[in-house]
Amino acid sequence: MSDDAQQQIETKLAGLRETFLPRFASAENEIVLREENAKLLGKKGELTAILRDMGKVPGPARKAIGERVNNLKVEAEAAFELRLKTIQKEARDADLNGVPFDLTLPGRMPFGKGHKHPINQIREEVVAIFRSLGFGVHEGREIELEENNFARLGFPPDHPATDMQDSFWTTSGHLLRTHTSNIQVRAMMSQKPPMAFIAPGAVYRRDDDATHSPMFHQLEAFLVDENVSMAHLRGILSEFAGRLFGAGTPVRLRPSYFPFVEPGAEVDIGCTFCKKSDGTRAGCSLCKHTGWIEVLGCGMIHPVVFEQCGIDPEQWTGFALGMGLERLAMLRYGVPHMRLFFENDPRFLAQF
Ligand code: PHE
Repeated sequence: MSDDAQQQIETKLAGLRETFLPRFASAENEIVLREENAKLLGKKGELTAILRDMGKVPGPARKAIGERVNNLKVEAEAAFELRLKTIQKEARDADLNGVPFDLTLPGRMPFGKGHKHPINQIREEVVAIFRSLGFGVHEGREIELEENNFARLGFPPDHPATDMQDSFWTTSGHLLRTHTSNIQVRAMMSQKPPMAFIAPGAVYRRDDDATHSPMFHQLEAFLVDENVSMAHLRGILSEFAGRLFGAGTPVRLRPSYFPFVEPGAEVDIGCTFCKKSDGTRAGCSLCKHTGWIEVLGCGMIHPVVFEQCGIDPEQWTGFALGMGLERLAMLRYGVPHMRLFFENDPRFLAQF
């Protein structure tokens, strides 16, 4: 019986010795290698089983066989470590030398794609229209000197217009700009005409109701050159209204007052809500049954503004216009309350 046991162990040892090296060598990754190792040296491993059977080998032979089993174990452990290092190095090299990300894989977006805020959409549309007409884009300052927001634009101190645009003051002499017209001053004081710019941006007024918000967005456009007339302004307005609200959208100018333009006007477009197929307007509650909706203010730049900014009003003339982007978006999408744009309710925003 014990001779048999010895014989069996010797046969098994010889078998294992032949097979473990090729088994380790052909393991192509760490998981497979560790599985192979466990089959040999793990709790239920073949070599572990042999070690357990050593007790059955008769005393005199036990030492010699024991030594062979142990040698095999040491050899197997070394072969495992060596193969493991090779596999790990190969994996690391592949990681370092391979393409880091597969950029062609489709993205995973469990929450769906976001999209641009309706005010940004309108702003980008308006900017694109004016850019295509040759206007450059300026960025102004939101915290502005009182002079640039009011005085240089022809607002006398204590003028009621400063009530009209009731302001947020920061430090003395500085305020949050109440309109984007401040950009005209900065541009004209730093550059020589001719020039044509637009300036989109946030503006601030102490106002809060269905059609006003303490922070809203305007876009100013202005152009200065020799011999600029009201006809140029009119042409730009018609082109702009046609592109934003549809070809043939009628435009009318109503005389109005802004301290920095003369003459000044408010601009109405034909109501976009009650337009009939023959091009006439039925009148609706949104246009107060007039068929016209006010969209912006404009006018010819006042000679006093030119003088304040160091530009000769005898040589240069120009026009300016300013519009509220929320107002345009409300008209375009039929939104009844301005605050909806700022509440960030996804149920509202998802509609655009
Ligand atoms: N800045 C004026 C406002 O905010 C709009 C305007 C701009 C009017 C340019 C005329 C010319 O009300």
